[in-house]
Amino acid sequence: MVAARRRGIATASASRSAPLKVDVTDLAALSAFLDAQAPKQILNCVALVDVATCERDPALAYAVNARPVSVMADHATRTGCRLIHISTDHFFTGDGRRSHGEGDPVRLLNEYARSKFAAEAFALTAPGALVLRTNFLGWPSATGRSLGEWALQVIETQCPADLYADQFVSCLDVWSLAEAVLDLMDAGAAGILNLGAREVFSKAEFVLALARRLGRDLPHARLTSVSAAGVRRPDSLGLDVSRAEALLRRPLPGLGQVVDSLAHHRDPTGAVP
Ligand SMILES: NC(=O)c1ccc[n+]([C@@H]2O[C@H](COP(=O)([O-])OP(=O)(O)OC[C@H]3O[C@@H](n4cnc5c(N)ncnc54)[C@H](OP(=O)(O)O)[C@@H]3O)[C@@H](O)[C@H]2O)c1
Repeated sequence: MVAARRRGIATASASRSAPLKVDVTDLAALSAFLDAQAPKQILNCVALVDVATCERDPALAYAVNARPVSVMADHATRTGCRLIHISTDHFFTGDGRRSHGEGDPVRLLNEYARSKFAAEAFALTAPGALVLRTNFLGWPSATGRSLGEWALQVIETQCPADLYADQFVSCLDVWSLAEAVLDLMDAGAAGILNLGAREVFSKAEFVLALARRLGRDLPHARLTSVSAAGVRRPDSLGLDVSRAEALLRRPLPGLGQVVDSLAHHRDPTGAVP
């Protein structure tokens, strides 16, 4: 929202607690809401992201993550507005640090992934829809418990922490993500597109890199495996972002730039070492 406003784009944020109230699981209310607001573009960031809750209640995961996207796509098709849907990288597993292209076969290990994959199909029924497969870090998040916030807390308090050494991602900092999303919208990008960091790294490597960047040690952190997590989670989430880079005409950040951006946004005065 901040990045869009900086570009002079009029924005309105809608969710159950946002200034504009809507519960997307009430499909009739969602449809009426979209008709009343008549947006030129819909950027759908709504999701039930708690993997354990999705696993316990697949119907709820579908009701929040997938089914409303069909209503948004129908609205976009009827009115000519553009749908940009934020998807996930939660679709790949078993091949380590590999970066996955948009056309690579997916493996759906849990209900979060299944509901998000169904959402992509719904979104793509709208002409010109853009589906962004991504993973990002930053703050403040709606829950205050995002990976970036957790990593910062672990680093600042030096508390004991288990770091996944075998779950690979290409997380982008949320500030670079926002600029890239807006640039891709300007560029008229459509279809499924990967958007992440240009390097693939483990979650442990990310936390350790951020700690180093902030000049801190992690004496009580230990390396563990994502297979120890309660719900089955994919482990090879790396994204090949070369198509996005070609559309953007610039390289996306690597791990070093991602942690630099996080350090800068923790302390914009530059006091961070
Ligand atoms: N964080 C990541 O690393 C990551 C990685 C891959 C993909 N993603 C995707 O990025 C998007 C945003 O994720 P996030 O991590 O920022 O999650 P988040 O902080 O939990 O945000 C989810 C948003 O969905 C809204 N929402 C949930 N249920 C709703 C409902 N029934 N009706 C209306 N709004 C509802 C929430 O607002 P209210 O509670 O106010 O309704 C909240 O603003 C999601 O599509 C997620 O799948 C995130």
